[in-house]
Amino acid sequence: MEDLSLFLNRRTVRAYSDREVTTETIQELMEAASRTSTTGNMQLYSVVVTRKNETKEALAPLHFNQPVVKNAPVVLTFCADFNRFTSWCKLRNANPGYGNFQGFFTAALDALIAAQTFCVAAEARGLGICYIGTTTYNTKGIAKLLKLPNLVVPVTTITLGYPASLPDQVDRLPVSAIIHEEEYADYTTDELDTCYLNKELNAANQQFVKDNEKETLAQVFTDVRYPKAMFEKFSVEFMEAIQEQGYNF
Ligand SMILES: Cc1cc2nc3c(=O)[nH]c(=O)nc-3n(C[C@H](O)[C@H](O)[C@H](O)COP(=O)(O)O)c2cc1C
Repeated sequence: MEDLSLFLNRRTVRAYSDREVTTETIQELMEAASRTSTTGNMQLYSVVVTRKNETKEALAPLHFNQPVVKNAPVVLTFCADFNRFTSWCKLRNANPGYGNFQGFFTAALDALIAAQTFCVAAEARGLGICYIGTTTYNTKGIAKLLKLPNLVVPVTTITLGYPASLPDQVDRLPVSAIIHEEEYADYTTDELDTCYLNKELNAANQQFVKDNEKETLAQVFTDVRYPKAMFEKFSVEFMEAIQEQGYNF
Protein backbone atom coordinates (compact mmCIF):
# COMPACT_ATOMS: atom_id res chain seq x y z
CA MET A 1 0.00 0.00 0.00
CA GLU A 2 1.72 3.16 -1.18
CA ASP A 3 -0.36 5.74 0.61
CA LEU A 4 -2.89 5.90 3.41
CA SER A 5 -5.86 6.97 1.29
CA LEU A 6 -7.71 3.74 2.06
CA PHE A 7 -7.77 4.83 5.71
CA LEU A 8 -8.18 8.56 5.13
CA ASN A 9 -11.14 8.15 2.77
CA ARG A 10 -13.03 5.45 4.60
CA ARG A 11 -16.52 5.65 6.05
CA THR A 12 -19.03 3.22 7.45
CA VAL A 13 -21.37 1.83 4.78
CA ARG A 14 -24.95 0.98 5.77
CA ALA A 15 -26.55 0.62 2.31
CA TYR A 16 -25.49 -2.23 0.06
CA SER A 17 -26.02 -3.14 -3.59
CA ASP A 18 -27.37 -6.50 -4.75
CA ARG A 19 -23.90 -7.63 -5.83
CA GLU A 20 -23.17 -10.99 -4.28
CA VAL A 21 -20.38 -11.37 -1.74
CA THR A 22 -19.11 -14.81 -2.66
CA THR A 23 -17.87 -17.49 -0.30
CA GLU A 24 -14.50 -17.16 -2.04
CA THR A 25 -14.38 -13.44 -1.22
CA ILE A 26 -15.11 -14.10 2.46
CA GLN A 27 -12.46 -16.82 2.42
CA GLU A 28 -9.90 -14.45 0.88
CA LEU A 29 -10.65 -11.68 3.37
CA MET A 30 -10.50 -14.12 6.28
CA GLU A 31 -7.17 -15.43 4.99
CA ALA A 32 -5.85 -11.85 5.12
CA ALA A 33 -7.40 -11.18 8.53
CA SER A 34 -5.96 -14.37 9.95
CA ARG A 35 -2.42 -13.01 9.37
CA THR A 36 -3.14 -10.42 12.08
CA SER A 37 -1.32 -10.61 15.43
CA THR A 38 -2.96 -12.72 18.12
CA THR A 39 -2.00 -13.53 21.69
CA GLY A 40 0.78 -16.15 21.59
CA ASN A 41 -0.42 -16.97 18.08
CA MET A 42 -3.29 -18.86 19.71
CA GLN A 43 -5.90 -17.26 17.39
CA LEU A 44 -8.55 -17.10 20.08
CA TYR A 45 -11.46 -16.12 17.87
CA SER A 46 -14.09 -17.55 15.56
CA VAL A 47 -16.47 -15.92 13.12
CA VAL A 48 -20.04 -16.98 12.41
CA VAL A 49 -21.06 -16.01 8.86
CA THR A 50 -24.79 -15.35 8.38
CA ARG A 51 -26.20 -15.28 4.86
CA LYS A 52 -29.62 -16.87 5.27
CA ASN A 53 -32.48 -14.38 5.43
CA GLU A 54 -34.22 -16.32 8.19
CA THR A 55 -31.14 -16.08 10.43
CA LYS A 56 -30.74 -12.37 9.68
CA GLU A 57 -34.41 -11.92 10.60
CA ALA A 58 -33.79 -13.70 13.87
CA LEU A 59 -30.64 -11.66 14.55
CA ALA A 60 -32.27 -8.31 13.74
CA PRO A 61 -34.32 -7.89 16.97
CA LEU A 62 -31.23 -8.82 18.97
CA HIS A 63 -29.61 -5.80 17.31
CA PHE A 64 -32.59 -3.50 18.07
CA ASN A 65 -33.89 -4.01 14.53
CA GLN A 66 -31.18 -1.90 12.97
CA PRO A 67 -32.17 -2.13 9.27
CA VAL A 68 -28.57 -2.76 8.20
CA VAL A 69 -28.63 -6.23 9.78
CA LYS A 70 -31.45 -7.46 7.54
CA ASN A 71 -30.32 -5.50 4.48
CA ALA A 72 -26.68 -6.57 4.37
CA PRO A 73 -25.80 -9.52 2.15
CA VAL A 74 -23.59 -10.94 4.92
CA VAL A 75 -23.52 -10.52 8.69
CA LEU A 76 -20.40 -11.66 10.54
CA THR A 77 -20.41 -12.27 14.28
CA PHE A 78 -16.88 -12.20 15.70
CA CYS A 79 -16.50 -14.27 18.85
CA ALA A 80 -13.91 -14.49 21.59
CA ASP A 81 -13.14 -18.22 21.46
CA PHE A 82 -11.11 -20.20 23.99
CA ASN A 83 -13.19 -23.31 23.18
CA ARG A 84 -11.12 -24.58 20.26
CA PHE A 85 -7.78 -24.03 22.02
CA THR A 86 -9.03 -25.51 25.31
CA SER A 87 -10.37 -28.61 23.54
CA TRP A 88 -7.04 -29.08 21.77
CA CYS A 89 -5.14 -28.74 25.06
CA LYS A 90 -7.33 -31.42 26.67
CA LEU A 91 -6.81 -33.71 23.70
CA ARG A 92 -3.05 -33.34 24.07
CA ASN A 93 -2.85 -34.05 27.78
CA ALA A 94 -2.39 -30.36 28.66
CA ASN A 95 -4.24 -28.56 31.44
CA PRO A 96 -5.92 -25.34 30.20
CA GLY A 97 -7.08 -22.67 32.67
CA TYR A 98 -8.78 -19.96 30.67
CA GLY A 99 -12.34 -19.77 32.00
CA ASN A 100 -11.60 -16.54 33.86
CA PHE A 101 -11.58 -12.78 33.22
CA GLN A 102 -8.07 -12.73 31.77
CA GLY A 103 -9.11 -15.57 29.45
CA PHE A 104 -12.18 -13.69 28.26
CA PHE A 105 -10.36 -10.42 27.73
CA THR A 106 -7.46 -12.10 25.91
CA ALA A 107 -9.82 -13.86 23.51
CA ALA A 108 -11.90 -10.69 23.11
CA LEU A 109 -8.76 -8.75 22.12
CA ASP A 110 -7.87 -11.38 19.52
CA ALA A 111 -11.41 -11.31 18.11
CA LEU A 112 -11.58 -7.51 17.90
CA ILE A 113 -8.16 -7.13 16.31
CA ALA A 114 -9.06 -9.82 13.76
CA ALA A 115 -12.39 -8.12 13.09
CA GLN A 116 -10.72 -4.80 12.36
CA THR A 117 -8.14 -6.44 10.10
CA PHE A 118 -11.00 -8.14 8.24
CA CYS A 119 -12.68 -4.73 7.81
CA VAL A 120 -9.55 -3.14 6.35
CA ALA A 121 -9.12 -6.08 3.97
CA ALA A 122 -12.79 -5.79 2.92
CA GLU A 123 -12.48 -2.05 2.33
CA ALA A 124 -9.31 -2.61 0.30
CA ARG A 125 -11.38 -4.89 -1.95
CA GLY A 126 -14.05 -2.21 -2.42
CA LEU A 127 -16.57 -3.62 0.04
CA GLY A 128 -18.24 -1.62 2.79
CA ILE A 129 -18.70 -2.55 6.42
CA CYS A 130 -20.68 -1.45 9.44
CA TYR A 131 -19.82 -2.49 12.98
CA ILE A 132 -22.86 -3.44 15.05
CA GLY A 133 -22.15 -2.67 18.68
CA THR A 134 -25.37 -4.15 20.02
CA THR A 135 -23.63 -7.53 20.15
CA THR A 136 -22.58 -6.71 23.71
CA TYR A 137 -26.17 -5.73 24.63
CA ASN A 138 -28.10 -8.86 23.68
CA THR A 139 -25.23 -11.28 24.00
CA LYS A 140 -27.19 -14.15 25.54
CA GLY A 141 -29.74 -14.18 22.73
CA ILE A 142 -27.03 -14.05 20.06
CA ALA A 143 -25.05 -16.86 21.72
CA LYS A 144 -28.20 -19.01 21.84
CA LEU A 145 -29.23 -18.30 18.25
CA LEU A 146 -25.77 -19.03 16.86
CA LYS A 147 -25.37 -22.11 19.11
CA LEU A 148 -22.14 -20.85 20.67
CA PRO A 149 -20.58 -23.42 23.03
CA ASN A 150 -18.78 -22.90 26.33
CA LEU A 151 -15.91 -20.33 26.17
CA VAL A 152 -17.29 -18.69 23.01
CA VAL A 153 -18.70 -15.16 23.43
CA PRO A 154 -19.83 -12.86 20.59
CA VAL A 155 -18.00 -9.55 20.97
CA THR A 156 -18.77 -7.66 17.80
CA THR A 157 -20.72 -7.92 14.57
CA ILE A 158 -19.92 -6.60 11.12
CA THR A 159 -22.30 -6.19 8.22
CA LEU A 160 -20.66 -6.57 4.83
CA GLY A 161 -21.54 -5.83 1.23
CA TYR A 162 -20.71 -3.78 -1.84
CA PRO A 163 -21.74 -0.14 -1.26
CA ALA A 164 -24.96 1.05 -2.91
CA SER A 165 -23.72 4.59 -2.30
CA LEU A 166 -21.00 6.25 -0.28
CA PRO A 167 -22.18 8.43 2.60
CA ASP A 168 -20.34 11.61 3.55
CA GLN A 169 -17.46 11.24 5.95
CA VAL A 170 -18.28 12.22 9.52
CA ASP A 171 -16.21 14.45 11.82
CA ARG A 172 -13.17 13.41 13.83
CA LEU A 173 -11.31 14.90 16.77
CA PRO A 174 -8.00 16.48 15.74
CA VAL A 175 -5.09 14.07 16.19
CA SER A 176 -3.56 16.56 18.64
CA ALA A 177 -6.48 15.73 20.94
CA ILE A 178 -5.46 12.08 21.01
CA ILE A 179 -1.66 12.05 21.24
CA HIS A 180 0.11 12.49 24.57
CA GLU A 181 3.89 12.81 24.35
CA GLU A 182 5.66 10.62 26.91
CA GLU A 183 3.01 10.99 29.59
CA TYR A 184 -0.71 11.68 29.78
CA ALA A 185 -1.48 15.40 29.99
CA ASP A 186 -5.02 15.82 31.28
CA TYR A 187 -7.18 18.29 29.40
CA THR A 188 -7.69 21.89 30.45
CA THR A 189 -11.06 23.50 29.76
CA ASP A 190 -9.55 25.42 26.84
CA GLU A 191 -8.08 22.25 25.37
CA LEU A 192 -11.45 20.48 25.65
CA ASP A 193 -13.10 23.40 23.88
CA THR A 194 -10.55 23.07 21.07
CA CYS A 195 -10.81 19.26 20.85
CA TYR A 196 -14.58 19.28 20.45
CA LEU A 197 -14.94 22.56 18.50
CA ASN A 198 -15.37 21.02 15.03
CA LYS A 199 -17.70 18.35 16.33
CA GLU A 200 -19.88 20.97 18.01
CA LEU A 201 -19.89 23.26 14.96
CA ASN A 202 -20.74 20.41 12.59
CA ALA A 203 -24.14 21.13 11.01
CA ALA A 204 -25.43 17.56 11.33
CA ASN A 205 -24.46 17.47 15.00
CA GLN A 206 -26.12 20.83 15.63
CA GLN A 207 -29.29 19.48 14.02
CA PHE A 208 -29.05 16.43 16.26
CA VAL A 209 -29.02 18.71 19.33
CA LYS A 210 -32.07 20.59 18.05
CA ASP A 211 -34.02 17.45 17.11
CA ASN A 212 -33.47 16.01 20.56
CA GLU A 213 -34.30 19.31 22.27
CA LYS A 214 -31.01 19.31 24.17
CA GLU A 215 -28.72 22.18 25.14
CA THR A 216 -25.45 20.53 24.12
CA LEU A 217 -24.17 17.72 21.92
CA ALA A 218 -22.73 16.01 24.99
CA GLN A 219 -26.29 15.76 26.37
CA VAL A 220 -27.37 13.92 23.23
CA PHE A 221 -24.78 11.27 24.08
CA THR A 222 -25.48 11.09 27.82
CA ASP A 223 -29.28 11.41 27.71
CA VAL A 224 -30.31 9.92 24.38
CA ARG A 225 -27.74 7.71 22.67
CA TYR A 226 -25.81 6.14 25.55
CA PRO A 227 -27.60 6.89 28.84
CA LYS A 228 -26.24 5.67 32.17
CA ALA A 229 -29.24 3.44 32.91
CA MET A 230 -28.79 1.64 29.59
CA PHE A 231 -25.07 1.12 30.17
CA GLU A 232 -25.73 -0.20 33.67
CA LYS A 233 -28.43 -2.61 32.48
CA PHE A 234 -26.29 -3.98 29.66
CA SER A 235 -23.22 -4.18 31.93
CA VAL A 236 -25.11 -6.63 34.12
CA GLU A 237 -26.50 -8.59 31.19
CA PHE A 238 -23.18 -8.78 29.32
CA MET A 239 -21.38 -9.92 32.46
CA GLU A 240 -24.04 -12.62 32.99
CA ALA A 241 -23.70 -13.74 29.38
CA ILE A 242 -19.91 -13.98 29.62
CA GLN A 243 -20.25 -16.04 32.79
CA GLU A 244 -22.93 -18.28 31.29
CA GLN A 245 -20.46 -19.02 28.48
CA GLY A 246 -18.03 -20.37 31.08
CA TYR A 247 -15.80 -17.44 32.02
CA ASN A 248 -16.06 -17.06 35.79
CA PHE A 249 -14.91 -13.96 37.64
C1 LIG B 1 -17.57 -0.94 18.28
C2 LIG B 1 -18.44 -0.20 17.30
C3 LIG B 1 -19.81 -0.34 17.36
C4 LIG B 1 -20.63 0.28 16.44
N1 LIG B 1 -21.98 0.04 16.47
C5 LIG B 1 -22.76 0.54 15.49
C6 LIG B 1 -24.13 0.18 15.43
O1 LIG B 1 -24.63 -0.58 16.26
N2 LIG B 1 -24.87 0.68 14.41
C7 LIG B 1 -24.35 1.50 13.45
O2 LIG B 1 -25.07 1.90 12.54
N3 LIG B 1 -23.03 1.86 13.49
C8 LIG B 1 -22.24 1.39 14.47
N4 LIG B 1 -20.90 1.70 14.50
C9 LIG B 1 -20.34 2.59 13.48
C10 LIG B 1 -20.08 3.99 14.07
O3 LIG B 1 -21.32 4.63 14.26
C11 LIG B 1 -19.16 4.75 13.12
O4 LIG B 1 -17.93 4.09 13.00
C12 LIG B 1 -18.90 6.17 13.62
O5 LIG B 1 -20.11 6.91 13.65
C13 LIG B 1 -17.92 6.88 12.72
O6 LIG B 1 -18.37 6.85 11.40
P1 LIG B 1 -17.43 6.32 10.23
O7 LIG B 1 -17.06 4.91 10.54
O8 LIG B 1 -18.27 6.43 8.97
O9 LIG B 1 -16.24 7.21 10.19
C14 LIG B 1 -20.07 1.11 15.44
C15 LIG B 1 -18.68 1.27 15.39
C16 LIG B 1 -17.88 0.61 16.30
C17 LIG B 1 -16.38 0.76 16.20
